[in-house]
Amino acid sequence: MPALRSVFFCSECGNETPRWEGQCPHCRAWNSLVEQRATKVGRQPVPGARPEPARVIRIGDLAGGTVPRVETGIDELDFVLGGGLVTGSLVLIGGEPGIGKSTLLLQAAAGLEAAGRATLYVSGEESAAQVRMRAARLPRTADAVSFLAETAIDAILDRAADSAPAVLIIDSIQTVHAPDIEGAPGNVTQIRECAARLQRFAKGSGTIVLLVGHVTREGTVAGPRTLEHMVDTVIYFEDSGSLDHRLLRVTKNRFGSVDEIGVFRMTAAGLVAVDNPSQLFLRQRTGASGATVAAVLEGSRPLLVEVQALCARASYGAPQRVATGFDRQRLSLLLAVLEKRVGLAFGQLDVFVNVVGGIRLREPASDLAIAVALVSAALDRPVGERVAFVGEVGLGGELRGVPRMERRVAEAERQGFGSVFVPAASAPAASDANILVRGVDDLLAIVAEIFPAP
Ligand code: TYD
Ligand code: MG
Repeated sequence: MPALRSVFFCSECGNETPRWEGQCPHCRAWNSLVEQRATKVGRQPVPGARPEPARVIRIGDLAGGTVPRVETGIDELDFVLGGGLVTGSLVLIGGEPGIGKSTLLLQAAAGLEAAGRATLYVSGEESAAQVRMRAARLPRTADAVSFLAETAIDAILDRAADSAPAVLIIDSIQTVHAPDIEGAPGNVTQIRECAARLQRFAKGSGTIVLLVGHVTREGTVAGPRTLEHMVDTVIYFEDSGSLDHRLLRVTKNRFGSVDEIGVFRMTAAGLVAVDNPSQLFLRQRTGASGATVAAVLEGSRPLLVEVQALCARASYGAPQRVATGFDRQRLSLLLAVLEKRVGLAFGQLDVFVNVVGGIRLREPASDLAIAVALVSAALDRPVGERVAFVGEVGLGGELRGVPRMERRVAEAERQGFGSVFVPAASAPAASDANILVRGVDDLLAIVAEIFPAP
């Protein structure tokens, strides 16, 4: 018999490597490779999964062009999923401990039960009493949800095969283990193997399987990152940076688009969807210099987000360039354009940019709001409060068109903004909207208009 060969997995990115190295050749993380002994796994029958081998089918003979979806009854969750959970799919919900993953899934289970879908909630972290206490706080009764306190994967799959729920929830993947595989629960080998068995169960039975995965702040040892390749959908539940708000963000989706976000608030009675997320990012505005509002798209959803810039005289050495929620290189580029094309010198200034509410601005369309915030901060002259900005800034200081302008303008109007500056190239044709849309060609023209010489 040939010797069993080990492989190594990076606990950061999940990349597989044939031998151990100090640095992952894929994502360059140090000390992240973990050994996985090759075992006889994969050959073993999975309890609950149908044993029949797959047949070859012509694509044209496959039934249906649409994927069957199951709604959880939590609109924000269904929205980020692309319309609900897909039958037979494996979904990972990652997030730091305490963020609200168990609460979200218990609420989803209650919603599913209310719609007549059987659910099985398996907890390896909490006792039935603890789960009961949480359930008592929630707005919708979770009485019908089946509960199982178990950590051995095969026992879980046996119970699931018996009760045949539409949705199986595993809270969390770090606590389940396969006794026939070496290693403690939570290590990479265990996590991957348990997830693989759950995946086979999902595909074989059509059950939707939701996995909770804890992510820690300081890099993820055997964290859910390694699982991202194995599951159909990855959702992260994260802190929005402002007290009790939570962002649900989909980063991988075989059945829908990525980058969609959902916004929730943690209350004394569970998670409550925030219907008007723009308002969340705009509250607490002060009207100080250096603050502007960008009309951006998060996935397909238009959002108004406040950006803040601060310039302070650099006291020693090279001036600082600090950006939170915005790319630092892009900030340097905008500063260079402002210096060359508008004639504002930032060489002696420390520059700080902050995007409010934990949002990361990745679209070039947010350039203009940042650039105007920088000018406002450098001149210490505030921008009007009911003005929004959209547009990419080119190296010549020109404003470049951005996609889906109508949606952005409509959102600004909905939030009660009086005017929005946009690149002339993508200014919508005259409309009867209640908002003034100002098409402008370049940064210099905007600066001259907003900050007229006194
Ligand atoms: P939890 O869902 O247990 O987080 P996770 O599973 O991600 O670790 O919830 C964490 C926090 O939420 C906990 O500190 C208590 C709080 N919470 C509320 O504020 N209101 C509620 O109704 C519930 C159920 C929890
Ligand atoms: Mg939990």
